[in-house]
Amino acid sequence: MTNIQLPDVSVTLALVASLEASLPDFGRIVDQFGHPAPALRKLGLVHWENGRFDTAARTFEAALSLVPEDPDLWRDLASVYSASDRDEQALTAIRMALEIDPHSAQSWQTLASVADRLDDAETAETAYRRTIALNPIAAAAHLGLGLLLFRKKHYDGALAAVRASVELDPVNGLSHYALGHLSFIASDFASCVRAFDEAARLTLELDPPTRQKRARALTFQAMIEGRVQEALQNYSVIAGEDREDLDIIARDAFSVLSASGHLAAAAEIGRMRLAEKPDDPVRRYLLDAVLGRSMTAAPTDYIENYFDQFAPQFDGKLLETLQYNAPCQMAKLVAGHRAGFQNMLDLGCGTGLAAQELKPFGSTLTGVDLSSGMLAEAAKRGGYTELVKAEAVAYLEATPNRFDLIFAADSLIYFGDLGPLLRAAAGAMVQGGLFAFSVEVAAGDGFTLQPSGRFAHSLDHLKAAALDFVILEVAESNIRLEAGRPVPGLYVIMERR
Ligand SMILES: C[S@@+](CC[C@H](N)C(=O)[O-])C[C@H]1O[C@@H](n2cnc3c(N)ncnc32)[C@H](O)[C@@H]1O
Repeated sequence: MTNIQLPDVSVTLALVASLEASLPDFGRIVDQFGHPAPALRKLGLVHWENGRFDTAARTFEAALSLVPEDPDLWRDLASVYSASDRDEQALTAIRMALEIDPHSAQSWQTLASVADRLDDAETAETAYRRTIALNPIAAAAHLGLGLLLFRKKHYDGALAAVRASVELDPVNGLSHYALGHLSFIASDFASCVRAFDEAARLTLELDPPTRQKRARALTFQAMIEGRVQEALQNYSVIAGEDREDLDIIARDAFSVLSASGHLAAAAEIGRMRLAEKPDDPVRRYLLDAVLGRSMTAAPTDYIENYFDQFAPQFDGKLLETLQYNAPCQMAKLVAGHRAGFQNMLDLGCGTGLAAQELKPFGSTLTGVDLSSGMLAEAAKRGGYTELVKAEAVAYLEATPNRFDLIFAADSLIYFGDLGPLLRAAAGAMVQGGLFAFSVEVAAGDGFTLQPSGRFAHSLDHLKAAALDFVILEVAESNIRLEAGRPVPGLYVIMERR
């Protein structure tokens, strides 16, 4: 921790004497309190209010040389250090304040702000929570916590905290602004529009991306209310100069409304989009998924088209926006069972995110995928001995290879009935080989095609389909976010009998 050098008491007393001589008010406060420290504090506050942060800091330091056990002075000092970008010193000063008085909500709030500025999210979060525990009506702490959780993509917690800050301090434009963005993520479009309008009324002229979001929210809300055609017709007028391509609005409306469970509206948009392009396998399959049609696997033309289009944005979207890290999590689980492998297969390898995770396990890694766009990204990333464009089951049935590790991160979600795939996998493995994969969790005992176009599986279905394997480990985890919410899943490690 940075050390803070307080002046000598003799130096401070000389300063006090000169201030008493030159500032009559200062002298009066000293007389009133019978001590110079409160007068120095008041003077420091005046410097601070007038933006003279260095002078304020020196004044607080002088006061502290006389009363080093005063927590409020340490907090004031922390605040002016922070205002003049002396963050490390601010941290030291506020920790001093909290050592002396750990029950001050204000000091915890200051620690939270300083830690937040230093990007120390863990300390900041703890400090915001301590502030709120000590003072539940501290609106700034709720807002600070909400913004921090927003950055961490913990959207439910962020929304609750920002809502609390709006209730406690309804005239803070920033709170409404954050509430608008969080409500959009939660697909609460009516609240989103209200919050943005309030933010604009109170303080801010909305920035263009926020205005675009507001126009989308108005449009999506009208669609939810059953006015799909009208909403699309009105969109350009609502969005004005911020308008986006109408086809993109319809595409995104379909995926947002299906992900948030507004299936009737999504189906209407889906039908409309399919009518525009009746041969489009992506539009057809996703409409089928929203309509709840039963299927045993996603069609291969859907997989190819969808992932070919998605490939260039895949890593950014999955890793950043959706908080996906299944390859890393699964590799850790595999390492808990075994680490050295002779012949590894990354099934549905996509852009090759698993390659770096599997590198420590062995040197021979084959990647198989249906999408040439995804394979091209995997080739750029590197780490594969061979990349093969093939359908997974067909490849497993035909390959002469015998693998001792098959790794399938987020690819079995495109199969409903896992029986054929697991039988084919067993045939392409050596006895004792490991099969690691992820699935999304379904209620009941079978599998379900979800509106997202991905399947979810029950543990019972996995067990029934995995007769050639011993299940070594099943770990519950959130696989990714969907409409701002975690998608529950399972990581499974099995051994070939
Ligand atoms: C969500 S991505 C996951 C990619 C990669 N495993 C990862 O963790 O980043 C799913 C991948 O599975 C591939 N895939 C889906 N169904 C397939 C099938 N039947 N045969 C081969 N690849 C398939 C897709 O093309 C896509 O690249």
